Amino acid sequence: MLILVRLYPAHPGYNGSNSAGLWEITKLRMELTTSRLVIRPLRKGEGAKIASYFQSNRAFLQPFYPTFKQDDFHPTTWERHIPQIHTDIEWHRAARLCIFQADELIGVANFTNIHGHPRHACTLGYSLTENAQGKGLMVEALEAAVPWVINEFRLHRIEANYMPRNERSGRVLEKIGFQKEGLAKKYLLINGVWEDHILTAFINHDF
Ligand SMILES: CC(C)(COP(=O)(O)OP(=O)(O)OC[C@H]1O[C@@H](n2cnc3c(N)ncnc32)[C@H](O)[C@@H]1OP(=O)(O)O)[C@@H](O)C(=O)NCCC(=O)NCCS
Repeated sequence: MLILVRLYPAHPGYNGSNSAGLWEITKLRMELTTSRLVIRPLRKGEGAKIASYFQSNRAFLQPFYPTFKQDDFHPTTWERHIPQIHTDIEWHRAARLCIFQADELIGVANFTNIHGHPRHACTLGYSLTENAQGKGLMVEALEAAVPWVINEFRLHRIEANYMPRNERSGRVLEKIGFQKEGLAKKYLLINGVWEDHILTAFINHDF
């Protein structure tokens, strides 16, 4: 069962320049709960959790990610980034969400490049910690996050792309309802190599 808790107004009218608005944003609380997971943005003080996620999964994730930078493993870099993560949600630019199981950060699901009229679309990327693989957890997380993102940002389309050899990721997307749309040659610079990607999209037919 999915429980959505929303403890902040959808459009608080923050103009980026007054300290009361900033306070409101750093207090931002959104949380999706599934039977095994909690999905939400990082909170102030949690920079070390995400730095540790990338540090401990570095070897496992590197074949699927742009080449990591040292900053990706530094808690202070992430801590500085947290207010921006919150303002990006408030201003409908991106929703960078973390996946928690029993308080442990076990994955990420990033909805970025959010575009309004006339595209009403965004891009999805995700990963799970190595020792949480094979339990259907990403499908469970995305079954909650995709409808939330569609509703919250009033989207018509979410795009997600994967390397042809990453069949596991393709299967996750298929199970959520993403459909293949084509193949983009040399699409993304992954681990130092321009990699072909299969393009998929989830269409919100109720838009
Ligand atoms: C992609 C990822 C998030 C999926 O993790 P997960 O939730 O543990 O996935 P699961 O193991 O539950 O597998 C999902 C489905 O793929 C299937 N699958 C697993 N390995 C597979 C393989 N090698 N080939 C085809 N299907 C595979 C599973 O059987 C499952 O389908 P089913 O439920 O119908 O049996 C995870 O592997 C990951 O973090 N990978 C590295 C980062 C990454 O690739 N990100 C995506 C970039 S596009």
